[in-house]
Amino acid sequence: RHVRQPLPHDSGVKHVQGSAQYIDDIREPEGTLHVAIGQSPKARGRLLALDVSAVRAVPGVVAVLTTADIPGKNDVSPAFGDDPLFVATDVSFLGQALFAVVATDRDVARRAVKKAVVEIEAEVPSITVEDALERGETVLPDYSYGRGDPNAAIAQAPKKLQGQFRVGGQEHFYLEGQIALAIPGEDGDIHVYSSTQHPTEVQHVVARVLDIPDAYVTCETRRMGGGFGGKESQATQWAVTAALAARVTGRPCKLRLDRDDDFILTGKRHDFRCDWEVGFDGEGRIQGYAVDLLARCGYSADLSSGVVDRAMFHADNAYWMPAVHIASKRLKTNTVSNTAFRGFGGPQGMLAIEHVMDQIAWETGRDPLDVRYANFYRPGENHTPYGMEVEETDTLLNLVRTLEQTSNYRARRQEITAFNASSPIMKRGLALTPVKFGISFTLTHMNQAGALVHVYQDGSVHLNHGGTEMGQGLYIKVAQVVAEEFGIAMERVRITATTTAKVPNTSPTAASSGSDLNGMAARIAAGAIKKRMMAYAAEAYGIPEEQIEFRDDRVFIGNQSLSFDELAKKCIAARVQLSEAGHYKTPKITWNREKGTGRPFFYFAYGAACSEVIVDTLTGENRVVRTDILHDVGRSLNPAIDIGQIEGGFVQGMGWLTTEELVFGKEGHLLTHAPSTYKIPVASDVPADFNVALYPNENREETIYRSKAVGEPPIMLANSVFCALADAIHTLDPSKPAPLNAPATPEAILRACESLQGRP
Ligand code: MTE
Ligand code: MOS
Repeated sequence: RHVRQPLPHDSGVKHVQGSAQYIDDIREPEGTLHVAIGQSPKARGRLLALDVSAVRAVPGVVAVLTTADIPGKNDVSPAFGDDPLFVATDVSFLGQALFAVVATDRDVARRAVKKAVVEIEAEVPSITVEDALERGETVLPDYSYGRGDPNAAIAQAPKKLQGQFRVGGQEHFYLEGQIALAIPGEDGDIHVYSSTQHPTEVQHVVARVLDIPDAYVTCETRRMGGGFGGKESQATQWAVTAALAARVTGRPCKLRLDRDDDFILTGKRHDFRCDWEVGFDGEGRIQGYAVDLLARCGYSADLSSGVVDRAMFHADNAYWMPAVHIASKRLKTNTVSNTAFRGFGGPQGMLAIEHVMDQIAWETGRDPLDVRYANFYRPGENHTPYGMEVEETDTLLNLVRTLEQTSNYRARRQEITAFNASSPIMKRGLALTPVKFGISFTLTHMNQAGALVHVYQDGSVHLNHGGTEMGQGLYIKVAQVVAEEFGIAMERVRITATTTAKVPNTSPTAASSGSDLNGMAARIAAGAIKKRMMAYAAEAYGIPEEQIEFRDDRVFIGNQSLSFDELAKKCIAARVQLSEAGHYKTPKITWNREKGTGRPFFYFAYGAACSEVIVDTLTGENRVVRTDILHDVGRSLNPAIDIGQIEGGFVQGMGWLTTEELVFGKEGHLLTHAPSTYKIPVASDVPADFNVALYPNENREETIYRSKAVGEPPIMLANSVFCALADAIHTLDPSKPAPLNAPATPEAILRACESLQGRP
């Protein structure tokens, strides 16, 4: 068998050796030119004049691209038409692309952009959520849904609380920055190598901007050095700029953003202000919950429709809310346009309710885990605020109960309480938090995928599908599925680069659904070929199909057997088609956004984490000393890859909630635009005692080999770290809530400690 095996990543050895080819490793064609972006020095205003004559005069500069050079539409947006390739009149954020320089080498291009003379009639920019609220500016209309009358429920509840909770954004910090290489072909054809999660969108937008048919454009993506959502829509602009440069100069053109520019020019995880109100009983059971999710979207809509919807879809996390109202605002600020980031808004919505759970626990004096138990979805109380039934109510409950045991939660709680009682400075904290994450694109039509499989006469198999590889292990999982279907050795399956020329009209690789969708499409394609091979064998050997079996790299036909390649050769001689395009669409999903009800998700993935931290209350320094994770990936397609995703997602989430902080200045400068000031977790931040286990489960839905998606849900396991830090701080004065927002940086922790202790 191949599925369920812990096979290493297909490029693992190459990643380590440095021989995996990323776009910057592709040998540059003769005469390749390099592109740099001319950026706006102001965050908001009108572009009065742009004089690039001094730029053109720089030796080595071959072309300067401005709006005048755009043959088609000046629009690189994914949906709403509000992201110009180059600013035409209105400047919307500091750094926004005004023009591009194409030069014989990258350094020349980067130096030449500085020679432009830019005149902007500047206005005061909106930077914060409050700025945008004051101006009343949004990128998309407000949206809300709910059930019952939460105001009445909260008013009548024995206890009530309200507050304002801030959740920070996050820079993707993929190791490979944004990059594209565009090669012009005959008759205006263009071939674009792009580090994108969405080759189809790159293809379409290149065509739109260059005013050529989609069929003239091919986008190819072998792999990304990480995407994390940052290359779902926002790889497009750089690919289009390279393509335009190639069109104008007739030469291959490459654009690789410098790391600082990548920080400044590309969107991040949305930061939120969450205004919440909750009513509950003495046990901490929620009776009414109302939350307004105020998202800083940046200057344009980008993916904010879906991102903020997903924050809303996860505002309940795993908890039943009899009366509830979930509202949202998509606020427009003069900052870079925020975008997809692992969890796609889900983590922000979910952290808010976990914060509220802690608040309820502090108010009722109950253990936070018991408050969570009191609120879990259970039979009869299992409808989400958007009306979807949570069918698998027992999975999360059993999973959390198991983790409570394996992490030794109760005994450690006692031990930590005793420790804190005798330790005035160093305080320990513990938290066990659940994750319930909806799997499917919430735009229903995006839940489809295609695959292309060829079997050659030597029995080797060419595999292609619409999913992209960003390190998450999608390619190996889909290859496992194909090898399994044919009963052949993994070595026969050749994984090939994603390209719009082989599998068209694809969705982005996102929403964690890569293997669910592409695995199924590939299985359908391989299955169709196998069926034809089977029919041929049955006829040629006079043996019924039931007695034919593909396994162990051979084909068993009655009491004879032959190798897979022998059968392939015979099939070709008998004119049997050994190539197939498979297509899959997810069943069962419906979502009516106007009515705010339906089944947006095929199923939910579950997990829970228990984290213990220690905090120095005099400095704010802290460490995660132990984390135990139990996570549900259904029946794993590849446990090695899945555990890697869980570990990586958790640590990335830890970074988001503890060390990564985006700071914008009043004028709109991103002050944290390099690793010197923006701190992602490193190897030494991984909990010293880190235990990850897969929860034995089978997807009740018919997914690929009953597996569940794994890509995004684990990032929210890091909520346990945030809640454990709050728990530690709370011990300083148990009569008050710990005043902690995310990220809980050492500075923020210190401020919270000082405020509880009444220190200045
Ligand atoms: N893992 C690695 N190593 N690199 C990445 O860029 N992206 C994450 C997740 N895991 C990412 C990753 C995100 S945001 C998503 S949506 C999924 O992988 C996408 O891949 P999948 O659908 O195949 O899980
Ligand atoms: Mo992932 S945020 O859906 O690319």
